[in-house]
Amino acid sequence: MGNNFLTWIVMFCTFCSVSGEDCSLILKPSRVVVGFGESVSVSCEATRPVRVLGWDSALGVPQTHEARSVQWKVDSLIDWIEEPICYGVFFTAPRQCEEKLNLVLYKTPDSVSITLVNHTGPMVEGKEYQLLCEVQNIAPVQFLTLRWYRGPTEVYKHSFSDLTSSSPVQVSSTLVITPTKAENDAEYKCVAELELGPEGPQPPPTVASEPLTASVYCPPTFLSPDTEVLEIISGEEATLNCTAAGNPKPVYSWQSSHPIQEKMKEEAVITSSALLPGTYTCTASNMLEKKSKQFIVKAKTKGV
Ligand SMILES: *[C@@H]1O[C@H](CO)[C@@H](O)[C@H](O)[C@H]1NC(C)=O
Ligand SMILES: *[C@@H]1O[C@H](CO)[C@@H](O)[C@H](O)[C@H]1NC(C)=O
Repeated sequence: MGNNFLTWIVMFCTFCSVSGEDCSLILKPSRVVVGFGESVSVSCEATRPVRVLGWDSALGVPQTHEARSVQWKVDSLIDWIEEPICYGVFFTAPRQCEEKLNLVLYKTPDSVSITLVNHTGPMVEGKEYQLLCEVQNIAPVQFLTLRWYRGPTEVYKHSFSDLTSSSPVQVSSTLVITPTKAENDAEYKCVAELELGPEGPQPPPTVASEPLTASVYCPPTFLSPDTEVLEIISGEEATLNCTAAGNPKPVYSWQSSHPIQEKMKEEAVITSSALLPGTYTCTASNMLEKKSKQFIVKAKTKGV
């Protein structure tokens, strides 16, 4: 029996070979995780006397005769479809046996970026927006987890385990947000993490996007009731406080049937000892909305 016949068995007789438990071949290590362009070496050992032991690999076919171990070694692995198989042809049954190497060739993404879909400039509180995270050139995608963060808090986790591709792909994830005013200046970030298992690098390699800072605009809201009634003693100092929260910061204007000092007309707070009974109306406005508040000033008689 010549070499050619053995090669024929190896190539065409895979249906009559066994693998797994009954196979007398052991791969060391049995699972390898290799970074793109890194070196790899795995040895295949036979647990009983073997006629031929070899690796079926596109990157050269090392083969030995009657040796109990053969090594598959690549200095720089860049082949995305490489699935090396170790085979053995034995003297006794089962005559043929093969073991496929669990090989993971990985590549961290070239870039991870985050954008606001169809919108530029500040967001408005209570409205819906879409954030898009795009990951370029990652492999294998089934080991990828994309984590979304608002500040230090993880808000969403996107797993791609239902996909299968050994070569690099581009993927994306969308986060729908309805910002509140408390989230003004919040930083959103997305982080791509390759969880490659215990044989992979520890901690798992991650690539983070640049943060996206969300400016959230909100209309003016008064911090005290919309109408206030004040009883003041004539000649004593009184304060009308119209302060409103809002983004951008509200601007103020005052109206009354009584004259108001020019320098106070644009202030949030009027403090005066010359207020007269009647109604003072203040307006707080920003680019989103204009809101008014009334101060009803009543005279209080001394000593009552
Ligand atoms: C973005 O805007 C374009 C053009 O106005 C529209 O066709 C598209 O559906 C929008 N996409 C989303 C996600 O709203
Ligand atoms: C006006 O009201 C705001 C909000 O309640 C408060 O922070 C501020 O100190 C008040 N100003 C004055 C002058 O009382």
